[in-house]
Amino acid sequence: MAGTARRRPLGVVTRGTTNPNRLRRVDNWIAATCGDRLRAAADPLVVDLGYGATPVTAVELRARLAAAVRADVRVVGLEIDPVRVAAAEPAADPPWLTFARGGFELAGLRPALVRALNVLRQYDESEVADAWRTMTGGLAPGGLLVEGTCDELGRLGGWVLLDADGPRTLTLAAKLGTLGGPAELAERLPKALIHRNVPGEPVHEFLRALDDAWHAAAGYAPFGPRQRWLRAVESVKAAGWPIVDRPRRWRLGELTLPWPTIAPT
Ligand SMILES: C[S@@+](CC[C@H](N)C(=O)[O-])C[C@H]1O[C@@H](n2cnc3c(N)ncnc32)[C@H](O)[C@@H]1O
Repeated sequence: MAGTARRRPLGVVTRGTTNPNRLRRVDNWIAATCGDRLRAAADPLVVDLGYGATPVTAVELRARLAAAVRADVRVVGLEIDPVRVAAAEPAADPPWLTFARGGFELAGLRPALVRALNVLRQYDESEVADAWRTMTGGLAPGGLLVEGTCDELGRLGGWVLLDADGPRTLTLAAKLGTLGGPAELAERLPKALIHRNVPGEPVHEFLRALDDAWHAAAGYAPFGPRQRWLRAVESVKAAGWPIVDRPRRWRLGELTLPWPTIAPT
């Protein structure tokens, strides 16, 4: 725009790995958990930050939120790599889905929700706090940021929910049919926690407790992995870990903890 200096996008280009359906677990969780905020938002604008080499997960996010939350949701896919912005253009469906160049500053948008999945994974742990602050600083009042990591097929994942005051919760999610045990979740912790899976850190203590509970629940295996997971989550909750979500979410292979319980020391 004439007369206004455009800010350089904040961040760096990283690997663009993505896959169809990779983010379905986090998208379904967003619809269920953040849906009310989005329904109440004056402007239902959602940013998908760092959509990668193809825009497939941004296309899916728009479709899922339009079906489950509100039909007038608008998704803007922001990428720091201009080549990926140009490559995404054929998938645009304005005004519902558009693509633009941008970084952690969110290109000056004021979204009600930001999803940033598998973006910070390739940054240094020391860069996380600033990136979180920059992204939450760009949210609309009452806005939310979901930042996390998952594996290539979306079978294992972990994400942090943040608002303007900082991180609120950590959610871990697994496809129970292929889960060998909760220890596998350690590889897909969000960047803020992945290097903290060491003795003395709360996330390490929690994963160990959950893994022990899973092994102790081996007798439930004949009834299926869901029953075993439910039993394991009930056990860690009974042992004092303040799981905040309900069995309805546990049945999906999820659990959510308050951030202060799990935050790095
Ligand atoms: C591994 S891909 C993730 C794609 C997709 N979100 C997914 O989970 O499948 C990471 C993408 O984030 C982009 N990226 C990294 N830092 C960014 C930033 N600060 N702002 C916008 N995009 C960024 C990279 O260029 C890359 O395309």
